[in-house]
Amino acid sequence: MKRMLSGIKPTGQMHLGNYIGALRNFVNYQDDYQLFVFIANLHCVTVYQQPAQLRKNLKDAIALYLACGLDPDKCTIFLQSDVFAHAQLGWLLTCQSYMGELSRMTQFKEKSQKKEDGITAGIFTYPCLMAADILLYDADIVPVGQDQKQHVELARNLAERFNNRYSDTFIVPEPVSPKVGSRIMSLSDPSKKMSKSDETNKGCIYLLDDLNVARKKITSAVTDMVGKVNYDKINQPGISNLLEILSALTNESIDSIVNRYQDKGYGQLKGEVADAVCQCLATIQDKYHQIVDSDIIESTLKKGAEVANKIAYKKLKKVQKKMGIDIF
Ligand code: TYM
Repeated sequence: MKRMLSGIKPTGQMHLGNYIGALRNFVNYQDDYQLFVFIANLHCVTVYQQPAQLRKNLKDAIALYLACGLDPDKCTIFLQSDVFAHAQLGWLLTCQSYMGELSRMTQFKEKSQKKEDGITAGIFTYPCLMAADILLYDADIVPVGQDQKQHVELARNLAERFNNRYSDTFIVPEPVSPKVGSRIMSLSDPSKKMSKSDETNKGCIYLLDDLNVARKKITSAVTDMVGKVNYDKINQPGISNLLEILSALTNESIDSIVNRYQDKGYGQLKGEVADAVCQCLATIQDKYHQIVDSDIIESTLKKGAEVANKIAYKKLKKVQKKMGIDIF
């Protein structure tokens, strides 16, 4: 069975983009792959997190993983910081990475171009930690949304570089993204991706949003003046985004939806998208409430850490031996 691994950074509440671009796909894959899914809590401290809020986000993230259908009997679910080998291999891979390639990472470039104060060194080196997350487990496949593909490419380059320098050690991973929904855009500004750092809070639907709030965000989504439902990402990015959301949640092809909307307007489309989103959120939230205060979270993480630690420790030892770091 091939191995698959992915993670989500609990910087805030999980949103519909995370669900459609990533989480939903992990769930679909858990029967066919040996799946490892973790909460990337070391990644989220590249920017300051209020400790009590972070703790809540971590718990919510695990509860949402389970509520969305990940089954701890079928896959390994763990907290990144419970496996020390991530940070250790992250450092060793930082020492295999070049300033030039890290400077070219889109996420780093975007953050540094904004000229915000306090851009940490962690934001610059975090793709090396992400490479370690992947390479520790010999993951063949890494399901991610489009924005993370460049980081998986770096992991591939680092694996090849290390294998060439020290002999075969790492599997070179492949990124996979869903055909529809690999980049869900902001509802209030469809030129930007839906993101946790949405300042207005109108463009992003959180999985734990009140259903009326979620509906309002969709009915207020920015569209265009064309007045006809087409899938045209350049000229009608807002409508195209709504079509992608609907298609991803209902499995109806975009062509078929567009055909149904030949003589219908944007208002009806928004209504249908809102119904699909609210139905999806209602199911997730119902399960989330059953899980969040139960002891399933602790038992899942305990079991996950045991399994993950064994695999990661073995790989780390192999790497250190090859590099000449270990004596015995
Ligand atoms: P993060 O937490 O930003 O996002 C988690 C996953 O959700 C996808 N995603 C989206 N997909 C579609 N539309 C969107 N608007 C959208 N926003 C986010 C992301 O592509 C991602 O798949 N560095 C990673 C977490 C990570 C990781 C890893 C992932 C750490 N180590 C190892 C895979 C393997 C991150 O910040 O994702």
